[in-house]
Amino acid sequence: MWQVQLFELNYDDREVQAAVDVIRSAWITMGERTRTFESSFGDFLGDGASCTAVANGTAALHMALLAAGVGPGDEVIIPSLTFVADINVVRLVGAEPILVDCTSYDDWNISPEGVAAAITLQTKAVLIVHYGGYACDMDAILSAVRDKSNGRPIALIEDAAHAPGADYKGKACGTIGDIGAFSFFTNKNLSIGEGGMVVTRTQEMHERIRHLRSHGMTSLTLDRYTGRAISYDVVEPGLNYRMDEIRAAIGLVQLEKLPEANRHRGRLAARYFDLLNGVRDIHIPFRHYCLGTPSYHIFPVLLHESLDRKAVIDGLIEHGIQSSIHYPAFQEFTAYRDGGLGETAIASDISARELTLPLFPTMTFDQVEYVCDTLKKIIA
Ligand SMILES: Cc1ncc(COP(=O)(O)O)c(C=O)c1O
Repeated sequence: MWQVQLFELNYDDREVQAAVDVIRSAWITMGERTRTFESSFGDFLGDGASCTAVANGTAALHMALLAAGVGPGDEVIIPSLTFVADINVVRLVGAEPILVDCTSYDDWNISPEGVAAAITLQTKAVLIVHYGGYACDMDAILSAVRDKSNGRPIALIEDAAHAPGADYKGKACGTIGDIGAFSFFTNKNLSIGEGGMVVTRTQEMHERIRHLRSHGMTSLTLDRYTGRAISYDVVEPGLNYRMDEIRAAIGLVQLEKLPEANRHRGRLAARYFDLLNGVRDIHIPFRHYCLGTPSYHIFPVLLHESLDRKAVIDGLIEHGIQSSIHYPAFQEFTAYRDGGLGETAIASDISARELTLPLFPTMTFDQVEYVCDTLKKIIA
């Protein structure tokens, strides 16, 4: 149906073989491959990152909030322009989401000044998102949290779902705050269908996350199978957010491919920037981004307010091009319509006019040209 999909898997026989090997090994639940995936991902991030593989990115965020002790009566600062998982997990732990606007029309990440202004005595965590794989201004956010916390502990959680392999001034995204949360959902830079990773900085937090992941238990099925343990204690109520061996094995292959896949995304993004440069009615964010190396998760553009976005999307569909929106405003969803979430003018405006163009590591430059030529014709 599509000539250019929004995203295509970067899979070959290596992923197939990895999955087959696990099935042949007859050990399919969390085990040695998961441990290797965790340690390899930690090595990839560097800086002594402790990693815990989990079922998906939402599980990673949920556990991050639980580990930070967020609960009823607490406030959690989140960006307005993000995937609904961020606000959902805040609500699910009984806390109040406090929305902060984008920095500007060029920098769609959460505004550090907005974060500083939103911190109150009830603030228990600040949850930031590296939108599109462009790291937030972490120095400014860290000093906002430090200056406004008055000595109270406020956890800084990085939603790095878009940012595996991205860095901020040379430091890997996901390792800068207190906890990092990655998603390995199908369309992510590291793709295993469903999966995620929690990154922690202290041993105490790491142990907490590992207990939360698996029913609060002190040993795993593998430990008992291999004789490392014969029973277990339950040290706190926990969940089952474990990853299985098949996904961990595919994750190891995807991790090897990630640096080159991200570099190719960067080359494709550069071609998009060139071809859409100066096109009237299209604004491209992060054009002059210089805070680090992005992971180019998506290629978002902002359509002029005179354009009908639905008509543009339909025009692209007629030419076999799939596009998307990152993201609809929370207030558009039934669950959040009457939530008193407050106004964030830039994010609301971006939500109404944003269009995401195809970007994936097996995309060709010809495909980028086709998308840009078609888009230019549609809006002309
Ligand atoms: C910014 C952001 N946060 C969180 C998530 C949730 O990740 P998952 O789909 O793995 O639960 C996603 C992915 O869809 C995302 O894009």
